[in-house]
Amino acid sequence: MEVIMTIRNDAYSLKHVVTTQQFDTNALIRFIFPLADRMREAVKMGGNTLLAGQRMISWFEEPSTRTAASFAMSMAQLGGEVSFATDNASQFSSRAKGETIEDTFRILNGYHPNVIVSRFATAGDAAKASKISKVPIINAGDGNNQHPTQALLDLYTIQKKFERCNNLKIGMVGDLHNGRTVKSLAYLLGKFKKISLYFVSPLSLRIGDDIKIYLDKHGATWSEHEDLRDIADQLDVLYMTRIQRERGSMLTSAELEPGKFSINKPVLRLLPKEAIIMHPLPRLEEIPNYVDGDKRACYFQQAENGLYVRMALLTIILAPIHIPRLLNM
Ligand code: CP
Repeated sequence: MEVIMTIRNDAYSLKHVVTTQQFDTNALIRFIFPLADRMREAVKMGGNTLLAGQRMISWFEEPSTRTAASFAMSMAQLGGEVSFATDNASQFSSRAKGETIEDTFRILNGYHPNVIVSRFATAGDAAKASKISKVPIINAGDGNNQHPTQALLDLYTIQKKFERCNNLKIGMVGDLHNGRTVKSLAYLLGKFKKISLYFVSPLSLRIGDDIKIYLDKHGATWSEHEDLRDIADQLDVLYMTRIQRERGSMLTSAELEPGKFSINKPVLRLLPKEAIIMHPLPRLEEIPNYVDGDKRACYFQQAENGLYVRMALLTIILAPIHIPRLLNM
């Protein structure tokens, strides 16, 4: 894969963001996360002008609240602009008439944006678009495949809470067959040391073998479970996800039992005091509202962190000249 971000001899470059496998741990720890910290400070000061004159196309073929809004606000905070945005491109663009993803991105390239952020309805379309696009593309989720910027903000949140990305026990719960955030995060975590992943899902919604093979290859340990209560007491991070009804997933009445694939009071009692509860959101019944008051719940902070991480990524892609100054290098 040519779309990479690696750090060698302090050289860095990033064009398209398509998957999480393209990032190495050094890039995350030395560049993206410290830059996200700088962006948090910049937002407190009212933003900056690092991306003045830069234009984004925001192309979403599936619904979004967090990803679309935080990318748009990232451009605003950095002094750039979203010049064209469509939030239902599957229905209101010429994709609805059968235009291919390749032709669509050829055309969008011709209007000279500086970056295109896109949520694709079909798994694999982000890779297809990146192959023909001269303009940087950021994958904002492609079908049930990947959601790399979500995984970056997830790991940033973990790093802020634990001050490490190694030596962690993480339970991932819910629709692991369709959960692109879980897949992207598992690929990313697999690059760190002493990672144990506990996949908790109904048999019909298990995570794919590709992830398990990757984790084996990278020395991470993993196990599969059908009841959250069996492993809740072992976790540093409880990463909940919803059942993706829009992709045909559903639970049987037995699987709907509280505590099995959802948080209830017994799960909260089992979960260690220092653990954190995460969720990419939107949440459904898997996190009842009363959990919001638990000091371990950090999913709203996690969503806010998306702004800082996406500002950092846009700066690396569009204004890398500013990085040495921002990071005191
Ligand atoms: N987490 C996430 O991707 O949320 P949205 O679908 O609202 O963007």
